[in-house]
Amino acid sequence: MALVPSLSASLQQRVSAALAAAVPSAADADPLLRRSDRADFQANGVLGLAKRHKANPRELATQVAAALPADDVIAQIEVSGPGFLNITVADAAITANLSARAADERLGVPYADNPGTTVIDYAQPNVAKEMHVGHLRSSVIGDAIVKILEFGGETVIRRHHIGDWGTQFGMLIQYLMEHPHELDHDADEAQAGAEAAGEASMSRLNRLYKASRALFDSDPDFKDRARRRVVDLQAGDPQTLALWQKFVDESKIYFYSVYDKLDVEIRDEDIVGESAYNDMLVETCKLLEESGVAVRSNGALCVFFDDIKGKDGEPVPLIVQKADGGFGYAATDLSAIRNRVFALHADTLLYVVDARQALHFRMVFDTARRAGWLNDEVTVHHLPFGTILGKDGKPFKTREGESFRLEDLLDEAIERAAAVVREKSQELTEEEIAERAAEVGIGAIKYADLSTSLGRDYVFDLDRMVSLSGDTSVYLQYAYARIRSILRKAGDAARPVAHPELPLAPAERQLGLLLDEFAETLAQVREVYEPHRLASYLYALASAYTTFYDQCPVLKAEGGPAMVENRLFLCDLTARTLHQGMALLGIRTPERL
Ligand code: ARG
Repeated sequence: MALVPSLSASLQQRVSAALAAAVPSAADADPLLRRSDRADFQANGVLGLAKRHKANPRELATQVAAALPADDVIAQIEVSGPGFLNITVADAAITANLSARAADERLGVPYADNPGTTVIDYAQPNVAKEMHVGHLRSSVIGDAIVKILEFGGETVIRRHHIGDWGTQFGMLIQYLMEHPHELDHDADEAQAGAEAAGEASMSRLNRLYKASRALFDSDPDFKDRARRRVVDLQAGDPQTLALWQKFVDESKIYFYSVYDKLDVEIRDEDIVGESAYNDMLVETCKLLEESGVAVRSNGALCVFFDDIKGKDGEPVPLIVQKADGGFGYAATDLSAIRNRVFALHADTLLYVVDARQALHFRMVFDTARRAGWLNDEVTVHHLPFGTILGKDGKPFKTREGESFRLEDLLDEAIERAAAVVREKSQELTEEEIAERAAEVGIGAIKYADLSTSLGRDYVFDLDRMVSLSGDTSVYLQYAYARIRSILRKAGDAARPVAHPELPLAPAERQLGLLLDEFAETLAQVREVYEPHRLASYLYALASAYTTFYDQCPVLKAEGGPAMVENRLFLCDLTARTLHQGMALLGIRTPERL
């Protein structure tokens, strides 16, 4: 792997050195270098420095400019306004830098300085329940963050904290015990493919849920038996556990089919649900009680917080164990923290969970800190995401007020995408259309989600999501496919080769400078866990490419074969950058569209 410092990093270093030369006591002054539309870069740091040293800013700026050695990176430098420095980079430096990136498989993206171990909690549906639109964001955002961190060299441990435990299983298990064939599979089911198998599993689970619910509500004796079944489950009775396992297995068939459609890889060993921490719950409570972090209150084991109070001014506790001895969501999450910190040796814990659980996580993290399970060595972040809204601006629900089934939404997106694909390219076979439609439709849903900053709500609008223009994945996919088509057309007649000796047109410069920012964008995204910054970078890149494509003929470039090669080179690097960036967001880039 070649380490390719970006042009802005090289400039940063040079301008810092010049600042230090002009004002020796300001060795660590930040030049505040920014991209600018007046020149390529603008350094704004002289102003503050002048103020601190009671110097005339324009004079100081002139001095700094003089201290910047004319070299092969800086083509021009001028003082502007009250004391800004406008810096223009040499064309040759741009092309040479891109050429070094292109020579590297990782496009010159370095690994993070101090990679560690991150445990990320995402894609956490619930057993025996249908996945709905609420499960989309955690899966899509989590998957992108996993990919981005891993690309940066981080060791990432994935945890799908599925809801696979709790009192509701008493009813289900009891019913299955009394109707033992309800989860039997048809002999030929497995042959029918993942999607059909997943659907069959979910419909069995739904049927069983409805039937057992009806019995539970109408038959007091059954209700009683169901309650006792919960006790058996918690006590680890083997027969009860075996039936519980059937529900988990049946649900996994369904989860896998939905994740397959969503094009999100879920591995069995990473599905570590609430049940996995069952054996730790008693000890977790004991540790909290003995250390005084938790106290008994009306029989329940509670943790109180000075700054968390209800409307009535009464403190709102985190309940770790209920008065009836049952453990809830909090006890499991606290045990999971102990496991992740002490057994998995995480130094970062991430939770990609709905913003509506923010208070829960605040209380859980605070409790874990007081217990000493979290300390300065471990960073913990709840990455809260906003709600998906309908066009009416309210949480996205069916007319009957129910959540949309995730699968139905995915199917609809694929269907819309098929129409777009079909209209755009006549020469594709039906099979190709189906394949592209899945890549375009799922990409559209993922991109709409990932291009919104995490905390914000957004409207689920398929028309906009699959639109060819605007900030959509389809626009990016078309840009990619168009470049690939140019490269195919060039064939062996012309190859992508960098020619730093050629001057660059304005659109080439803009594209080139943006290509050079890929590594820095990724470093920033890793720092703040904000995939939308990568999405907006890719959109800017595709837009810059579109301008380049309009203004700079590639195969018919008039400057001779070297110019054709250099433009093909820009095309090729743009395609590779788009491809890599989209892949990190979990979005496919078809070769043709
Ligand atoms: N299964 C939960 C739900 O559907 C999300 C779990 C989030 N993760 C956690 N560690 N609590 O709401």
